[in-house]
Amino acid sequence: MGIEKRTFKHGFLWGAAIAANQAEGAWNLDGKGPSVADAIPIKSNLRVTDYNGHNAVSDEDIQSALNGVNNIAYPKRRGIDFYHRYKDDMALFGEMGIKVMRVSIAWTRIFPTGEDSEPNEIGLKYYEDLFMEMHKYNIEPLVTLSHYEMPLILSEKYNGWTHRNVIDAFVKYCNVCFQRYKTLVKYWLTFNEIDSVMRHPFTTLGFREQKSTPERYEQDIYQALHHQFVASAIVTRDCHQIIPQSQVGCMLTKVTTYPRTCHPSDVEITLRKNLENYFYSDVQVRGYYPPLILRSFELRGITIQMEPDDLEIIRQHTVDFISFSYYMSVTESVQDNAERTPGNTVFGVKNPYLSTSEWGWQIDPIGLKISLIELYDRYQKPLFIVENGIGAKDIVEDGKIHDSYRIDYFRAHFEQMKEAVNEGVDLMGYTSWGTIDIISAGTSQMTKRYGFIYVDQDDEGNGTLNRLRKDSFYWYQKVCETNGEDIR
Ligand code: BG6
Repeated sequence: MGIEKRTFKHGFLWGAAIAANQAEGAWNLDGKGPSVADAIPIKSNLRVTDYNGHNAVSDEDIQSALNGVNNIAYPKRRGIDFYHRYKDDMALFGEMGIKVMRVSIAWTRIFPTGEDSEPNEIGLKYYEDLFMEMHKYNIEPLVTLSHYEMPLILSEKYNGWTHRNVIDAFVKYCNVCFQRYKTLVKYWLTFNEIDSVMRHPFTTLGFREQKSTPERYEQDIYQALHHQFVASAIVTRDCHQIIPQSQVGCMLTKVTTYPRTCHPSDVEITLRKNLENYFYSDVQVRGYYPPLILRSFELRGITIQMEPDDLEIIRQHTVDFISFSYYMSVTESVQDNAERTPGNTVFGVKNPYLSTSEWGWQIDPIGLKISLIELYDRYQKPLFIVENGIGAKDIVEDGKIHDSYRIDYFRAHFEQMKEAVNEGVDLMGYTSWGTIDIISAGTSQMTKRYGFIYVDQDDEGNGTLNRLRKDSFYWYQKVCETNGEDIR
């Protein structure tokens, strides 16, 4: 008798993913406070080199964002008006047949300043209605508690997560959410792409470079990260207590990283890059700081201030599953003049064997399989791909969008997922990114589209906001219906 081929398990969670700050709009309605995302302007003419570094936002930028009435420059403030249109959008998702939908809660809808004594009832009710609407279509919510936004006021007052008080503010916000949504939400994620703190600390930590010094820069960011690790462990504990059937995951940016050549120096630099890449999940999955990272802190003169219980809290409250985004891979090289390529918050060395998206992100389906195998072998915990997709310019012809390039991208990735599952990887679900076109996180463009559902809006906010089904909509519908069997 032959060996049975393994495929996606029964109840595999096929789904969709968006984030509040890129979709909802209504940035200052119904009591919502300003978040860091509301102060980030559009960058449509981004040069390749601009993707590098920490995307610094100055105090003056923030002041002018707050004073400015020119909302055109701040597309995340308007999103795709998901705030008002979510019922119609959920009907479309229901028609697509998805089983899970990843959304995030905007912290500032619940606590506008982050430290208000009482939560904002209108904000709480909004998400309650949203989750109930999902259940109407048998769609399970998967909720990120912090997706690239935090109260702007906490960023100003404390230099974001560098201050320990932010842990208490976050824990309070999360507990309010767990209590309110305990019958509606089972799957939770704490911090989106927690490993990206060094790459863009303003969006992830509310960190202002001007409030630090070049000497303290790394120290401050790792301190802020430590506070997020502690906060994540505390809320994992609280979530398990308040919602016993809940499952809490960490969320990583998985940019598979290869050596550019087999020269031992390229292999070594890649090894170091991957030690850093795995540090974040090591803490959240294994429950301790890896010894090599601690030693590297020591060698770099970085000292993290910790309270006596911090390490014990981190040890005891590890995550139930590992979620990650996957768009691309990069290579590393010691050659200073190696050609570089932009990507998902990274700026790696170009791989001559890969093609790229219109935004230069390298397309590497095999890299997804490699990541799945690496992560599962390292941790043996269920994996959940919670972002994947290709940003592309779509053309509407007679009300139709023939996006065969998008279908090709997904098909190639699903083939690799199937292979990983057959090889024994425990994959619990998959949510495509920006399943309905939303504002780009990196550039704030609308025309960088990821969706199966088209939204009629341009970069300046012109358009009817009408939704259209792309060809890929029907293709993904078939994927969901056949549990990934039919990906032709
Ligand atoms: C991920 C983020 O890094 O990449 C998303 O979690 C983001 O918020 C996605 O939208 C794609 O990046 P971009 O810059 O093309 O929107």
